Order: sequence, then C-alpha cells, then structure tokens
Amino acid sequence: MITLYLNRQIADDDRRESLFAGNFYLYTGLAGANALAEHAKSLISEAFSGLDPERAQYEMSVDEFVKRVGPLKSEFTNGQRTKELCQQFAVELGVDPELTYFDIPRLRVIPADNYLSAGVSYNYKAHRDMWYGHPQQLVNYWVPVFPVVGDNVMSMFTDYFDKPVRNGSNAYDYDEWVAKHRHAAAEKTTKDDRPHPLPLEEIDSRGEIRIAGGSGDVMMFSSNHLHASAPNLSGVTRFSYDLRTINIEDVRAGRGPRNVDSGATGTTLGDFLRVCDLAPLQADEFSSALSGA
Ligand SMILES: [Fe+2]
Repeated sequence: MITLYLNRQIADDDRRESLFAGNFYLYTGLAGANALAEHAKSLISEAFSGLDPERAQYEMSVDEFVKRVGPLKSEFTNGQRTKELCQQFAVELGVDPELTYFDIPRLRVIPADNYLSAGVSYNYKAHRDMWYGHPQQLVNYWVPVFPVVGDNVMSMFTDYFDKPVRNGSNAYDYDEWVAKHRHAAAEKTTKDDRPHPLPLEEIDSRGEIRIAGGSGDVMMFSSNHLHASAPNLSGVTRFSYDLRTINIEDVRAGRGPRNVDSGATGTTLGDFLRVCDLAPLQADEFSSALSGA
C-alpha cells in the first residue's frame, strides 16, 4: 500500500523512512518552493521575451525554441540565485542542513503535441533515477512552474516500486554520460539517440497515477519509483522544476529502498552541494559505502 500525505508535518528522518517505503508527500503554500517557481517564471519570461511561454511553441520554429530553452535551462540550473533558493526550499522542508546535500535543480520544458520531445525537451521514458547513476537514498521533489493537468505531468508507475523491470542501466555509466552526452542535448531536435537507460519490457500502467498541482506545489517521492514524462496532450508547454536531495547519513548507513533492477555504474554524488554552505560533497569518502550499489 502506498499513501499520499498532504501537508504532513513530520520529522525529516521519519519522512525519509516513509518515502523509502514508497509513500508520497505533497506540500502546498511553501514560501521557498514558491520563490523558486517565481524565479523560474522570471527567467522563462525573459527567454520568451513577452510571449505567453505556455503557447510560444506555436509561434516559432523548433530551432528558435531550442535556442531560447537551452540557455534558459542552463541559467536556472547553474545560477547563484537558484542555489540560494534551493537552500531556502530545503531548510523550510525541515531537512538537516548539515547532513543534507542537493543536486542542482533542473528546469523541464515539455512542449505539447510532439513539437519537440528530444534533447532540451527530452521526454523521459519510464525509469528510476538510479538507472542514471543516482544513489538509492535519493529523494525527489517535483514542482510545476505553471499549474499542470494530468495530460502534462509525470506518470508514476506505483506498482513497480518493489518490482524489477528489465532495463538498459547495465550499459549506463555516469562518468561517460557527463563526458560524452550531457552537453549534446541542444543538438538533438528530432531524435534523442543518447544512450538513455530504457525499459526493455512493456510497462503495465494499471498502477499509474498522475499528480497535478498548482504553481509551487511540491510532490516529494523516492526516486526509486518508476516514473516517466507523460506524453504532453494538454495543448500547452509544461514548465516544471525538480530538485533532489540525499541525507549523507543514509548513504553511510546504506539505508534507502532496495535496488531491484539498477545496474548503472558511476555516481552523481560528486555533483551534490551541502544545504548549509553549498560545499561540494566529497564523493570519494563514500566509495566503500557505494560499492555494489
Ligand atoms: Fe527521473
């Protein structure tokens, strides 16, 4: 059984334990999450220079769209203001700022109607983040920038939390991905032939749920949940951001959901920044804790 908790006040240690069992936590009205959504909105508005960003795809060529979205995503992910807002976001959610690290957030821009589903707007097929080299202890926060509907959010295939899926993560190495493929996203406008770890079997959608919030509403879940970008049939471009955190004591202790099917090598841990002071995580320290993960 999986439970969705709404605005539940709970100690972060207890919440992570619950997340690692597959439960979801939904939060509305958080100042930090809203501030990050507002920051995204202002960058989006600049990038689309006065056009309605949710409908701008209908007014420009795919090349023009990519030219605007590439730098927009990069500024959101790497800007200093974003990092400061992530600190506020995490602290407000009650994580321990000394023990918690975050990966710099990503802005997702998913146009409607098959306009562009590769590269900067890659539509993720069903995956667990672990297939991409993330640690088992990862917690994911998914936040719409503009209100979303079931037709333009993420699909969560809840039946598969504990159930293995045949997949291509054995061939995925995080270091190789960074060296060869990450920065090639803007070149991919028709077909995304980067070696994404893909499911190798049909996904049964009976347990699929879609959670559609308003701007700044937070969906918090274990990244061990099988999830995908739902095909965007909403008629408007979806803008959302996502943030990921780990508590370093979880990594040290090897806590987290069971790895049911990921064979990815390498780790994203070296990308994480400490919430209290933005110090990078020294990933070498954890090589023994991660061996075999
Ligand atoms: Fe993901």
